[in-house]
Amino acid sequence: MTAVHRFRIGPHEVQVYAEPSAASRAGAESFAERARAAVEANGRFSVALSGGNTPRAMYAMLAEEPLRSRIPWQGVHLFWGDDRCVPPAHPRSNFRMANEAFISRVPIPPENVHRMRGEIAPARAAEEYEQKLVDYFGFGVPRFDLIHLGLGGDAHTASLFPFDDDLLRERERRVRVALFRTLGEHRLTLTLPVLNAAARIEFLVVGGEKAKVARSVIRGALDPFRLPAQLVRPRNGELVWMLSRDAARELEG
Ligand code: 6PG
Repeated sequence: MTAVHRFRIGPHEVQVYAEPSAASRAGAESFAERARAAVEANGRFSVALSGGNTPRAMYAMLAEEPLRSRIPWQGVHLFWGDDRCVPPAHPRSNFRMANEAFISRVPIPPENVHRMRGEIAPARAAEEYEQKLVDYFGFGVPRFDLIHLGLGGDAHTASLFPFDDDLLRERERRVRVALFRTLGEHRLTLTLPVLNAAARIEFLVVGGEKAKVARSVIRGALDPFRLPAQLVRPRNGELVWMLSRDAARELEG
């Protein structure tokens, strides 16, 4: 998918697409391209998925031709950047959304789907997921081939919420329990050391309602505890923003 505009702002590579569907297409094509390259080079591809509403359209494209056949599903390993502490069939489950959008529609081996178990006690689920990361990546900080992120209206990403200083300062644990205060909802989230170890981070942000927060995060003054997405800075990786034109309208010029 061709961007209508590409530019850099500091560490951010910004790609602007005419429509939300074009931005989703770009994200899906990038997933396919990186999956093929990683499986060819290393026999497997590790990706952490985002949740919420934005990625649904992109995920659905992964289960449709031509991408469905292009992706080497046997080597794809799905993880989550965050999920809500709810059962997998719950309407608010990020796993459920992805499962409906593509996982249930593609030939990925079930053992390659590394779900956060939101149905058990949050602290236990965080420990269990920490172990899942060790089982796959070994010891040391996991380096995902790709981490897919969204951006909340309050500049949260994954479940790293503003002013949750203890969580935002976490440098040891890979998985933490977070609290989404608006709903009093517990969540599981990868921590910044994991996000910032990734080979590539892709933010997918669409809609005019995200224009202001996208500008604050990308072009605004550094204010990371108010704008947690500003803390996402892969040390040795790419930081890419795939924005629809309306989400980028306060960024350009
Ligand atoms: C979640 C997400 C979260 C999301 C943003 C944007 O569990 O909700 O991981 O970080 O990406 O809140 O959500 P929308 O795409 O629904 O605007």
